[in-house]
Amino acid sequence: MSLIKKIKDYYKSTGNILFTTPSHSQGNFIIPEAEHILGNKYFKSDFSEIEGFDNLRFPEGAIKALHNKISDIYKSKASFMLINGSTSGILAAMLAVLKNNDKVLIARNCHISVYNGLVLTGANPVWFLPEIDTKWGIYKGVTKKDIEPLLAKNKDIEALIITSPTYEGIFSNVDEISEICKKYNIKLIVDEAHGALLNFADFKNKPAILAGADISIQSLHKTAGAINPAALLHISKTSDILPQDIQEALNLTNTSSPSYPLMADIEATIDFLESSKGRYYIKDLLALIDKFKRQLPPAIEIYEENNDPTKLLLKFNDRNADSAAEILNSKYKIEEEYSTSNAMLFITGIGTDSKKLDSLSIALNNIVKSLPSQKMKKNEDLKTILPVMKYTPREAYQLPKKSVDKNNCTGCICGEYIMKYPPGIPVLLPGEIIQKQHLQHINKSKIQII
Ligand SMILES: Cc1ncc(COP(=O)(O)O)c(C=O)c1O
Repeated sequence: MSLIKKIKDYYKSTGNILFTTPSHSQGNFIIPEAEHILGNKYFKSDFSEIEGFDNLRFPEGAIKALHNKISDIYKSKASFMLINGSTSGILAAMLAVLKNNDKVLIARNCHISVYNGLVLTGANPVWFLPEIDTKWGIYKGVTKKDIEPLLAKNKDIEALIITSPTYEGIFSNVDEISEICKKYNIKLIVDEAHGALLNFADFKNKPAILAGADISIQSLHKTAGAINPAALLHISKTSDILPQDIQEALNLTNTSSPSYPLMADIEATIDFLESSKGRYYIKDLLALIDKFKRQLPPAIEIYEENNDPTKLLLKFNDRNADSAAEILNSKYKIEEEYSTSNAMLFITGIGTDSKKLDSLSIALNNIVKSLPSQKMKKNEDLKTILPVMKYTPREAYQLPKKSVDKNNCTGCICGEYIMKYPPGIPVLLPGEIIQKQHLQHINKSKIQII
């Protein structure tokens, strides 16, 4: 029986008195401010793994059935709900595949969770930089050229981790990359956090596990309409990774009090996406995006090369995008995902309708008219270099740290995460030697230390 139905039936029919956590007792007492935000329905279905509701650590009943349903829909060998975001799935995938001191090939534009996975597993990264599109200030997709020489040179690499689509929506050719991984007998983990709609519409790119990846991780909350931090992990039917190894790893990264409202939302989201109404919704969204593109003024270009169309990456050819963003925020109350000196990213998804896109289109057209045209400098935000590692991520995590003068630290070993945020792509990570180019880059661009 579906988890949603089970929850509904439970609070309709049983008179059970629960002396279990959580202590609000299915909304018997709700702190007023919390009720104001969440309503009381949320509390009714917020219980722990009580009799008949299965256990996320060792699923055998309703949760197992839901995992099987997800696996059928996504055509996987096994699928798992992630109740702590794609972050927990990336950590679990790495824990299942990598051991202490294993070598792993990683694209430097990975999410911070991949780095954290290195600390947890004790694996050591072989970093590579995918090519940078200097016109747009973004990383391109990972190619055969990026990885094959490194795999030929480092025969002891165990796995490759890439992000596809990226935060900006750029796809890698997973079919081609998975072929190379098979040739070198290594596992391929694809961070597909931004690709949760891929299974439900005619995108140019297939979902990663259908293109040969061993594991993919998708955030349902990013584009597919679920609440934060709903996500999924899938193992491909062709992979020899064992579902029990992933389950064991997830048991390390998951809470022992999984949220039933969150799991019910995951089920509802997937049911919707799979339905004809859901598929129509996504088709409609793509049509609205096409219309939006046609309405853009000539001064704004949209990125359209091998990318996920739901990510609107706009470039201002002769206007300052930062100034445009300021007007967009203050006058039109529209917030972009991020802006650089010449580009802006807008993320769309299930909740994006024609009203939202029309408001953005009108605002952008007006802003272009009101801003003076100017000669734009090259976007330097991504001038990143490959790191020189002094300590492994795990060693660096465990070593003591001290503060140093930011202007006088060339040659020191970095003890912090220094990254461009959003999206959180590392410039320097703990254990890496701080070089002159890093400091020049940090001083020039909008880099945050987190
Ligand atoms: C590329 C990428 N991977 C993974 C994550 C982590 O996803 P979650 O927030 O679902 O944990 C993010 C989050 O921003 C991301 O951008």
